[in-house]
Formats: sequence, C-alpha cells, structure tokens
Amino acid sequence: MSDDLLRYRSEFPILERTTYLISNSLGAMPRGVYDAMKGYADTWASRGVRAWEERWWMLAAEVGDEIGALMNAPKRSVAIHQNVTTCQAIVASCFDFAGRRNKIVYDDMNFPSVMYFWEAQRSRGARVHMVRTGDGVTVPTERLLDAIDEETLLVPISHVLFRSAYINDAFAITEKAHKVGALVVLDTFQSLGTVPVDVQALNVDFACGGVLKWLCGGPGVAYLYVRPDLGRTLTPTFTGWFAHADPFAFETGPIRYTDPPYRFMTGTSNIPALEAARPGLQIVASAGVAPIRGKSQRQTARLIELADRRNWRVNTPRDPEKRGGTVSIDMPQSYDVCRELLKRDILVDYRPKAGVRMSPHFYTDDRELDTAIAAVEEILRELVVVR
Ligand SMILES: Cc1ncc(COP(=O)(O)O)c(C=O)c1O
Repeated sequence: MSDDLLRYRSEFPILERTTYLISNSLGAMPRGVYDAMKGYADTWASRGVRAWEERWWMLAAEVGDEIGALMNAPKRSVAIHQNVTTCQAIVASCFDFAGRRNKIVYDDMNFPSVMYFWEAQRSRGARVHMVRTGDGVTVPTERLLDAIDEETLLVPISHVLFRSAYINDAFAITEKAHKVGALVVLDTFQSLGTVPVDVQALNVDFACGGVLKWLCGGPGVAYLYVRPDLGRTLTPTFTGWFAHADPFAFETGPIRYTDPPYRFMTGTSNIPALEAARPGLQIVASAGVAPIRGKSQRQTARLIELADRRNWRVNTPRDPEKRGGTVSIDMPQSYDVCRELLKRDILVDYRPKAGVRMSPHFYTDDRELDTAIAAVEEILRELVVVR
C-alpha cells in the first residue's frame, strides 16, 4: 500500500536505527533541530542581549500561534509554559475557592500530575470530586456529566487518556459544564498532532498540552489556550513581568495586565526549547492532522488485530472513533517484555494497568508493526525457556 506520509521518514534520524513506536511519550527528533539549536547558539553568541528585542521576546507568541493553528485557536490566544502542570496552576490562579462554586470534577483516568496539583488545592478550599471509572479503559461519560453541577467551578480532563488512548467526549462534557456555569480545561497532550482538535468547535474554555509527544517538539514547551473572551477578563494571580502591560517600565506595586497571550505568562520563557520545538511543529502542520489521523486509525487497528490473534489483552478501545494514537497491550510479563524490546531497539514503554504502549505515528512503516509483534513473540518464548 502506498503511504504518502512516509516521505517524512528521512527527516527523523532515529528511524534509521530503531523501530520507533513511542510518540505517545517522546516524539522522534526532526533533523532540523540540529540547525535550530545552532541558530539559537549563533544568535546568542553574535547578537547577545539584542536577541531579546530582535527575536526572543516574541518567540513564545509566535510558537503559540503555530501550535494554535493546529487546534483552530485564534491568533494570540495561546500562552507558553514549561509543562502542563504549570498551565493548570495558571488556570487555578484565576479563581478562588472561597465561594459555593468551588468543586473540581474529573475522572480517575486523568494524568496523575494534574490530579496531584488539584488535590493539593484542597488546602485552598477546592473540593475535588473524582469520578471513579471501572474498566481501566473508558470513562463513563454519563457519570462524569452527572457529577458536573451548579457548584462546579472547573472540569480539568484529558481529551485522550494516557493509559488507554480512550477519547473523552469533550463536546458533551463542555456542553454540560457550560449549562451549569462551569468551565472546562481540556488536556490535549495525547490528542494534538494525532487526533483532530478544534478548540472553537468544542467550545472549551482552556486547552493545554505539551509538544514533546505527537508534535515532535522536544521537552520544555507546553501551551495554554484561553478562550479569547475569557482571556480578556481573567486575572491570573500566578503571574509575573511577562504578563505586565509595560514590562520594561519595571513599575512597583500591583501588576497591570497585558492582553493574551502574555497575560497568562509569568517570567522569562524557555528560549532554547521554543527554538527546538519549531521543526516538529512545521512538519506536523505540513503533513496535516487529518491524514495523520487516518493512518493512525489504520495502524492501531492492525496492532489490535495482531494482538488479538495471539490472545493478548488489549487495553484500548476497539472503536476507532473512540481511540487515540496508542495501543496498550497487556501480554504476559509485559514489564519484562518492554525492557527486552528496548534492548532490541524497539522503542515502546510500559505503564501499570495498561501494559506495553505502542504508538505508531505518521513516520511509521507498516512493516515495523510486524517487526515489533514478532519480537514480542520471540521474547515471550525466551522468557518461558529462562523460567
Ligand atoms: C495527558 C497528559 N497530561 C500531562 C502530561 C505531562 O504533564 P507535565 O507537562 O506537567 O509533565 C502527560 C504526559 O507526560 C500526559 O500524557
């Protein structure tokens, strides 16, 4: 079968040496990052402090726009931070939990760091309502919707679950939240770049994620979209001089906020990480999320079929419309299998209650799926012999 997206393979050096099925954790590095890093060093070395004015001060806004374009966010609505946990903290700092509307609703399949953050807000008055899910794969949407009530302030949920790749019904959740006056913080870390995201069509209030997985942008850059009408009025208390209307006046006293996106920033941005993020963003934009999604649905279906044939447990939805880019396979001794795969240059990871996570991306050749599954079989045979 011809696969147009394979034309990007040569952009990613690691694909020459490994079977790369780990874009749910760390996307492959585009070779353009070498030049981007050299450009960063040259700018610093030759332009010195002038680099701020000439390039660096506005870099976060520009990269924010590049990320925003992938999720249909209007220009200048995406702020940049170092990680998603910080993005959630910025959102939390826009609200107080003293009133009756102080409930935070999410499900237990949320990413743990996000849950640790919100749990810690109990000491500031937040009431956390965690909806328990049952099967370790899906979220019972109705139960989540029932928990969102007139006392709910925020609903911070994952768009695609990191453990099972189940796609939450973000539209229904946002609709219910808005009906009762609550706001939704959608974590699109595991969706943007592999599953279409349209923040305006979903009408979410906030969206956040990072670029290091499906966007091949490396660590250190996370994005925070704020719905533009909200963005003009919210006043984050976790703030800093980048959020000031006149930062170089170095005024004393309380902050006078600038407009979004810098209204939602704090201090100095992570310039090298922003430079490193750009080649990956450009490749994903050029490949297009729609073709990436089509290929991902086909390759994840193939992985499920290969696992089924061997009677390995699949902890991922079978319905392609409900499934993101990862297949979690809990074969016998999956932890040991994962360690062995890594030794053989087949890059995957293991997560408790999920199993081995395999994530083909636009640069994955169909044959690599067979290679990975054949290697698992071989490892399982060897593990039996060792025992
Ligand atoms: C859904 C989701 N949210 C958040 C994170 C990470 O959060 P942070 O950027 O704070 O490290 C991950 C994975 O690393 C994730 O899969």
